[in-house]
Amino acid sequence: MDFVPVIDLSERHTAPGRAAIAASIGAACESSGFFTVVNHGVPAELVDRMYRTTNGFFTAPEEEKEHSANRGVGVAGLRRPGGPYEAYAAHVTGDLPQEEREALGSYPATWKAPNIWPADPTFRDTWYDYIGAMADLSADIMRLFALALDLDEDFFDTKFDNHVSLILANYYYAQATAPAEDELRRERHTDWGSLTVLYVEDDLGGLQVLRAEDDWVDVPAIPRSFVVNIGDLMAFWTGGRWASTVHRVVTPDGETSSRISIPFFYLPNHDAAIEPMQASAEGSELGEVTVGQWFSHKMRSTYQAAS
Ligand code: OGA
Ligand code: NI
Repeated sequence: MDFVPVIDLSERHTAPGRAAIAASIGAACESSGFFTVVNHGVPAELVDRMYRTTNGFFTAPEEEKEHSANRGVGVAGLRRPGGPYEAYAAHVTGDLPQEEREALGSYPATWKAPNIWPADPTFRDTWYDYIGAMADLSADIMRLFALALDLDEDFFDTKFDNHVSLILANYYYAQATAPAEDELRRERHTDWGSLTVLYVEDDLGGLQVLRAEDDWVDVPAIPRSFVVNIGDLMAFWTGGRWASTVHRVVTPDGETSSRISIPFFYLPNHDAAIEPMQASAEGSELGEVTVGQWFSHKMRSTYQAAS
């Protein structure tokens, strides 16, 4: 099997289809933790509208984006002018009334901030439609995960019925000239959460997954697909049985155009207790965690590693 296999979800509504898909997903999660999905059921019309809306936002005059500028990581609007890209983020909890946001317990403080939406209401409507479709697809992938892990199919349902997911749009700037080979669009990293469903602008590659030291595998850019990968929280949950793998973004040879990618980070309920299914490598000292405690742990360990 390919390191990043293509998994066709069209038979996911029949029991034998689900079993076969779950087996492929399980194999991918044990090796790379990455796969792409096709025939996933998310309407092309919605994905196209999401792309157009998001592209329109990033290419709008500066004054129009101004109000969502420079809010810092983890808060609704996020831009890093001067770097290779800028980004805009929204949290599903970000439109809750203030009291409900503040009651999110150990949830990171910056995530309790309200979303800052662009003035044009069609942007927010489209993003909400897309978030709904991503949450439905993610919930079904979690059910397939449960099958792959020999759990009851609904094992994860109650852990995500009030999910606190985060959606991010990355806008990698067009480059006047092809960049040097070692110039990255995005530094190597792992995702910290449970499940990521990533939209990448059709035909524009650049995402690479680390198979072994200095061995980067290109994730195929397949029109109308999504890239799915698991993050460190899912690796922790499975006690290290599944892999959360280092990835990065390069500029493919000769490519200079801008590139939009939209990861949807599907994150469990803020109060769901996550307990490793077997002794875990990372975070074994933590025992059981909530998603908020997990992100605090990631911030602490990343900060300590860097200092
Ligand atoms: C991310 C990420 C990949 C991409 O945002 O975590 O890995 O293709 N993005 O932009
Ligand atoms: Ni990532």
